[in-house]
Formats: sequence, C-alpha cells, structure tokens
Amino acid sequence: MTDKKPFLVNSDLAKKPKAKEKETVLLLDAKERETVVLPGSVTQGKGKEKEKEKAMVPESATQAVLVHSTPMSEDAVTVIGPDFNQKITCDQILRSYERIGFQATSVGKAIKIINQMRKWRLSDDPISPDEKDDLKDPLIRSTIKCKIFFGYTSNLVSSGLREIFRYLVQHSLVDVIVTTAGGIEEDFIKCLASTYLGEFHLPGAELRKKGLNRIGNLIVPNDNYCKFEDWFVPILDQLLKEQKDEGTVWSPSKIIDRLGKEINNPESIYYWAHKNKIPVYCPAITDGSIGDMMYFHSFKNPGLVVDLVSDIRSMNDQAVFAEKTGMIILGGGVIKHHICNANLMRNGADYAVYINTGHEFDGSDSGARPDEAVSWGKIKMTAESIKVHSDATIVFPLIVAETFAKKI
Ligand SMILES: NC(=O)c1ccc[n+]([C@@H]2O[C@H](COP(=O)([O-])OP(=O)(O)OC[C@H]3O[C@@H](n4cnc5c(N)ncnc54)[C@H](O)[C@@H]3O)[C@@H](O)[C@H]2O)c1
Repeated sequence: MTDKKPFLVNSDLAKKPKAKEKETVLLLDAKERETVVLPGSVTQGKGKEKEKEKAMVPESATQAVLVHSTPMSEDAVTVIGPDFNQKITCDQILRSYERIGFQATSVGKAIKIINQMRKWRLSDDPISPDEKDDLKDPLIRSTIKCKIFFGYTSNLVSSGLREIFRYLVQHSLVDVIVTTAGGIEEDFIKCLASTYLGEFHLPGAELRKKGLNRIGNLIVPNDNYCKFEDWFVPILDQLLKEQKDEGTVWSPSKIIDRLGKEINNPESIYYWAHKNKIPVYCPAITDGSIGDMMYFHSFKNPGLVVDLVSDIRSMNDQAVFAEKTGMIILGGGVIKHHICNANLMRNGADYAVYINTGHEFDGSDSGARPDEAVSWGKIKMTAESIKVHSDATIVFPLIVAETFAKKI
C-alpha cells in the first residue's frame, strides 16, 4: 500500500529561504521520500555532493507535476463569479451564471439558447436556391419565427411551475405543448381546489387514512379528485354524445382543447391554450385520474373512442412544416421523447434545452444528453443545445426571468 503523507520537499536548501521551503509541500509515497531529505538532516552527513544529490526532487516527479500547458486560445473565457462588494441586481447575478462554472454555466447557456430561439427570424437566414416562392418575400421572412416545442412532466404542474407555464401560454410564448396525463388534470384540479405544501417524509399510511395524497413534498387532498370527477364526467357524456350524433373523432389534443374551453378560468394553462390555439399533446392521456374517470365512465356510458393516430399526424406535422424549431423540455420520459421524435421527422431541431435530473449511465432516454439525440437525427448536428442537470423547480423560474419575461 502506498503510504501517502504530506511531506516537505527540500529541493535546494542552500539557495532557498526557509519560508519558501514550506511552500513546496507535495504528496509523496515512501519510495519517493527516500530520495529527499528533511531540512534538519542536511548537516548530519556524508559527502556534500551525495547530500545535494539526495536533496534533488526526482526528475520523474517534477516532469509529472510540472507539465507545461499549451497557451489558452485568445477567446478562452475565464471563470469569475459575481462580486457582492458591488451593488448587484438579480439580473446581474443571472448574467454572471455563465462564467461561474458547473450547472450555473449550463443555466447561463440555456438562457442564451432560449433567447436565440426567441430572436430568430427567417429573414436572418439567406434565401436558399430551392426556397418556396412565398418565402422569398423579405417582409414575410421577417415574420416567421422559430417554433418552440415545450414539454413538462406531470409533477411540475402539481408544483408552482404551473403558474409559469400558464404565463408562457397566456402570452403565446411557446407554440406546441407536450405533457403527461397528470400535467393536464392537475391544472384543472387546481381550478377546483388547492394543492398544499407538505413534507417528503410524511408517512404514507397516515396520509392514506386521512385521504391525503403526496407528490414529493406536496399534498393533494383526495377530495380534489372527487371534485374533478364531478366536473369531468358530464363532459365525457357530452363528448360521447357528439361522437355518436355528429361523428366527432376525439383525439387527446381535441379533448384537452375542449376541457380548456369548459373550465373557462384564466388561472388555467389550458384555458389559454384553447384561447390562443396552442395545441397540447398528451399521448398517454389515460395514465392518471383522467384514465380512472374514463374507466368508470366506460361502465356507465360505454363507447367513447380516443384517436391517437390523428394526434401523432398533427404533432409530427408541427415539426415537419416549421422553418426552424426549438425544444425546451423539463423532465424526461414520454414528454421528452415525444418532442424529440417529432423533430426527427424534420431531421432534427435547431435548438434544444433539456432540464432534468436523469442520468445517462443507465441508458435511459430520460437521462440522455442532447448529443444522443443528435445521433438519432432528432437534434441537428449544427444545433445549439444544452442539458441542465437540475430540479426544474429551482432553475426554470430563473431562466424565464432572463428570457420570456423580457422583451427581445
Ligand atoms: N402529479 C404527478 O406527478 C402525476 C399525477 C398523475 C399521473 N401521473 C402519471 O405518472 C406518469 C409518469 O410521470 P411523468 O412521465 O410526467 O414523469 P416522471 O415523474 O416519471 O418523471 C420522468 C423523469 O423526469 C425527470 N424529472 C421529474 N421531475 C423533475 C424535476 N422536478 N426536475 C428535473 N427533472 C425531473 C426525472 O429524470 C424523471 O425520471 C405519467 O403517465 C403521468 O401522467 C403523474
């Protein structure tokens, strides 16, 4: 076993002052220690030459430690953080993130990329030789924007990020939404009753006895779901009636649009999605309370059919016919892949910002970095992309403050 202890290296006792000697503390193993001497031992000794030789740091060690660097490129960025000795605003702190390092740098890059998505206009790009005639007009080109695909997991709608999502949809700052079933129903449920702060460690059995459901450190009373049933089941009856009487084909996005109309409440994300005609896709719409209600409803009033094919057609067309696309994806699972897969249909998105806590070592799609999607053609090779490794509830409010909440 290597016996590593801090050890004073006396490289040239005759020349160096004592204070300097103490600066040269290295970690040496037992063998290396035999080749150096302690300051006090110089005087006890054999021949002066042998002592001097003994006092030399082994060349192999100096070569290993003191490797010379190639000069940094002229555009290399130095690491520096905000200085609280100066009066500093929150804006300035956020702007300093990119040079702090680690995930702060990734947050800074995410801000930059989202602002690029927002700023881009077709008029920024040269007219390609095979450009469609109607897209050659500079005026028209200056109105065509990057289409922003926005995805989030269900728990984020349970959290207070829901109000930020509503803001983005209310002001038409995103163009296409993908979420999971909880991401739909939790928004409507919050219009009917509140979600509360709790603790991660609250015991499940105790909560169950009280009819309280836990999502992380949030609590949703079970009564909320009963209220949701009272509101949702009559709408299901109506959907089935329209299917039978008028031949309406209901897809998940059509149902969500209808629910946004029915809730008629400006606190809701999907109220604004309906108003602003922002499509919301939810390919796994039955995996939540919505599915529970559909199950019960199928006994009382069977026959409702939900068409997934028309939604995949419409979702993929959103990507195929866009001039430029950007993806902002909070969390992983279905929402992440559904957005990336749609962008494969156009040979990749032009911008991508992932914010999630997933890791890639297990091979999960949730944890994969943007570069994995490049290999599949879901993100362009030339795209600007970043993955922020973080709980989205921490960083997304900061990112929105520096992007969508500001004029470009
Ligand atoms: N409130 C709820 O969470 C809720 C409610 C009803 C139904 N469901 C259902 O549960 C199923 C699974 O949910 P899901 O697919 O929406 O996501 P999920 O909760 O399974 O999360 C998927 C991945 O996203 C990442 N992630 C999750 N939360 C994150 C955060 N705060 N910050 C950063 N990364 C995060 C993690 O890597 C996680 O493994 C869905 O079918 C959904 O409808 C969930």
